Amino acid sequence: MLRIGMLTSGGDCQALNAAMRGVVKCVLNNSKEPVEIYGFEDGYKGLIYSRFRMLTGKDFSGILTRGGTILGTSRVPFKTIHDPDENGLDKVAAMKQNYYKLQLDCLVMLGGNGSHKTANLLSEEGLNVITLPKTIDNDLWGTDMTFGFQSAVDIATKAIDQIHTTASSHGRVFIVEIMGHKVGWLPLNAGIAGGADIILLPEIPFDINKVVDKIEERDKAGSRFTIIVVAEGAISKTDAALSKKDYKKKLENYKYPSVSYEIADLITKKTGREVRVTVPGHVQRGGEPCPYDRVFASRLGAEAGKLILKREFGYMVGYKNREMVKVPLAEVAGKLKTLDPKSDIIKEAKLLGICFGD
Ligand code: F6P
Repeated sequence: MLRIGMLTSGGDCQALNAAMRGVVKCVLNNSKEPVEIYGFEDGYKGLIYSRFRMLTGKDFSGILTRGGTILGTSRVPFKTIHDPDENGLDKVAAMKQNYYKLQLDCLVMLGGNGSHKTANLLSEEGLNVITLPKTIDNDLWGTDMTFGFQSAVDIATKAIDQIHTTASSHGRVFIVEIMGHKVGWLPLNAGIAGGADIILLPEIPFDINKVVDKIEERDKAGSRFTIIVVAEGAISKTDAALSKKDYKKKLENYKYPSVSYEIADLITKKTGREVRVTVPGHVQRGGEPCPYDRVFASRLGAEAGKLILKREFGYMVGYKNREMVKVPLAEVAGKLKTLDPKSDIIKEAKLLGICFGD
């Protein structure tokens, strides 16, 4: 008997179901022994509190195109993983206990950055763990691509496209705030695909005067509107120069809902121009996966299935230099894959005339 536990952790994204389906199809089609699948509900919470349901191949049928996750998900922050819960329960010990009680042969975890720290911890604690890289942010170390990212790029691009027509009708400056947490992969790609004039990213602190110069340059050239894509983690040069303590203090008294509104306010004060802010938000994580993500997640799932059948554990399945790879969890955990401001894609975007405010 091969017993596989499975959970999805952290913020959801498109193609979680496609990836789980890939794992299960591969294992069921190729295992020489009977297989039992234990689906833990709501991420690590399910493993901590022993909330699971037994799943069969049928549960994974018809979910290739379905958004969200059939298992549910939640955030169980790694920084408090060693703190007892409100009833004094040791969460790590509970996860281990439930794993052994069910006699699992392995745990498959689909998650992003924070979730990989917990996966690595469980692996170091002796559990057999295999992970798959999910997140719209594409910020996981050890893989060039995460599933969910391309679907989110599609949605964010569509949002910028929609703004384009209304911005040009009204001759307005528009800010579209794009997710991505602390990195700029999603805003950069959607910004280029959506023809943004200015893209502000966490990795390239901006000077608001450079942003204003670009808007005025466009005005003088007869362009009636300007589209600015702002990463939710964008930061000004002034703020980036602050000490951690002073920056925290600034945020404590922050009067804006997000950085985009602060930028809009500054632009209006400096130019007198009308600025509108659009925040697509969680729309970017919702709905069905795009075809690329369906294929990619299915491939990752199959590769994970292969590792399970070979009893090779302690890895995240990733994609590097156009090849599927297995990356030791210890290498992935705790690292962020940020954009290099000197990378070709940034240089090419600059050649296209896109301003990064630097
Ligand atoms: O990590 C995915 C992500 O959507 C980020 O882009 C965003 O910063 C964050 O999750 C939002 O988290 P929550 O769903 O908890 O509001």
